[in-house]
Amino acid sequence: MNAAAIVLAAGAGTRMKSKKPKVAHQVLGKPLVRWVVDAAHGAGIERVVTVVGHMKEQVEPLVAADTTPVEQVERNGTAGAVAVCAQALADFDGSLVVLTGDSPLITPQTIQRLVELRQENDAAVVVLTMELEDPFGYGRIIRDESGQVARIVEQKDANAEEAAVTECNSGFYCFDARALFDALKKVGNNNAQGEFYLTDVLGICREAGRKVMALVTSDPAECLGVNSRQQLAAAGKQLQRRINNAHMANGVTMTDPDQVWIGPDVQIEQDVELLPQVMLWGSTRIGEDSVIGPNTRLTNTQVGRGCVLQETVALDAVIEDGANAGPRAYLRPGAHLCRNAHVGTHVEIKKSTVGEGSKVPHLSYIGDCTIGAGVNIGAGSITCNYDGKHKHPTVIGDGAFIGSDTMMVAPVTIGAGAVIGASSCITKDVAENALAMTRPDQIQIEGWAEKRRKKQEQE
Ligand code: UD1
Ligand code: CA
Repeated sequence: MNAAAIVLAAGAGTRMKSKKPKVAHQVLGKPLVRWVVDAAHGAGIERVVTVVGHMKEQVEPLVAADTTPVEQVERNGTAGAVAVCAQALADFDGSLVVLTGDSPLITPQTIQRLVELRQENDAAVVVLTMELEDPFGYGRIIRDESGQVARIVEQKDANAEEAAVTECNSGFYCFDARALFDALKKVGNNNAQGEFYLTDVLGICREAGRKVMALVTSDPAECLGVNSRQQLAAAGKQLQRRINNAHMANGVTMTDPDQVWIGPDVQIEQDVELLPQVMLWGSTRIGEDSVIGPNTRLTNTQVGRGCVLQETVALDAVIEDGANAGPRAYLRPGAHLCRNAHVGTHVEIKKSTVGEGSKVPHLSYIGDCTIGAGVNIGAGSITCNYDGKHKHPTVIGDGAFIGSDTMMVAPVTIGAGAVIGASSCITKDVAENALAMTRPDQIQIEGWAEKRRKKQEQE
């Protein structure tokens, strides 16, 4: 799309009461300003300039990779903010979209509509407007007798008649870039707030005989700006609904969509079932027919088809087709469950592969370990991978059987088909198909228990 965009992100956001700049606050794991920049890119706009200012050292890193950050040193109003982009866009002629960095619900489709409408009509500007029952605080759209947009009046500058208008400025526009930068030179600050208002550009263009238009949104929620923590939560709720509805439309079942939180980059295949209290973040992907939840959080985790994950927390893990985990499994970075593997209750897996069909069913810690196929790890078995300074590997061959409560002191290798007697502490390599056991011999003293009971009764 032949258009560029400016994202305004220099404001302080005082009402957030935060150490962080407002636009760095996240919804569904993504900073506010990123939602806006991504919407611009999603509309096909490659060239984006971001106006930074307040705590710019925290905002710039969020946008520097795919936009041109420009600093607004003096925060003297929205017109001032756009004016600082003049140099960065000096060579640009065409449709210039202006977006506020604190409005994460704006969609690529609406941005495209603004651009198309401006280009079709050769307008100086198309502003996105909304009808609100309670317009307080917003700029009002003042139309002339013929219904054309004449200008915008800010709340603080509005007379009673203007304040009664319910059509409001969303703060999203598409301008003719040259008309915009020309008009900005004429914007003054003789108003209630002593600021340079971007909204004055509409009246100026109109007086210059250019066409000024409005696109009335059918979904005012799309224009929701975040100024407070309440609005941050409200925006999160809206985006949650939007994302969940899209997944349900694609064939994903959710028992209770209010209790499912999915990040914008998560991919889910058809016939996946999401139970209550599920969070899916980052680049997580879920394959067909898998059942996830309840109480499960997956971050950057790849889940195959037909998997079942109950009460599982996973980060940077890979779970192949038919594998399952939980209830109460913790899969840390580098955990890799091969096809049909099973990781059960109160089991933690870190940087380890659990081979095809292998089982770690209960109460185990497996770290820096390679487990072959068809292995059974008995309850309570642990890889002792850390000597206080270094981490060491454990290798367990195909078909090995590890008795319950085995300590495997790494580095150590247990050969394929080997059997480890329960309660062993394995410090040396075990050969294939061998039995290894470190358990002391059992002793038995006849009648001892009865004698003790009698003695205790006499005390
Ligand atoms: C603005 C509009 C108002 C509209 C409303 C929609 C103006 C004058 N008014 O009002 O008509 O209804 O948005 O939400 O534009 N910013 C800077 N530098 C500045 C000042 C602001 O970068 O010097 C940024 C802010 O960080 C914010 C955006 O511009 O992202 C809007 O500024 P704000 O002060 O919130 O404008 P509003 O009073 O909400
Ligand atoms: Ca605002």
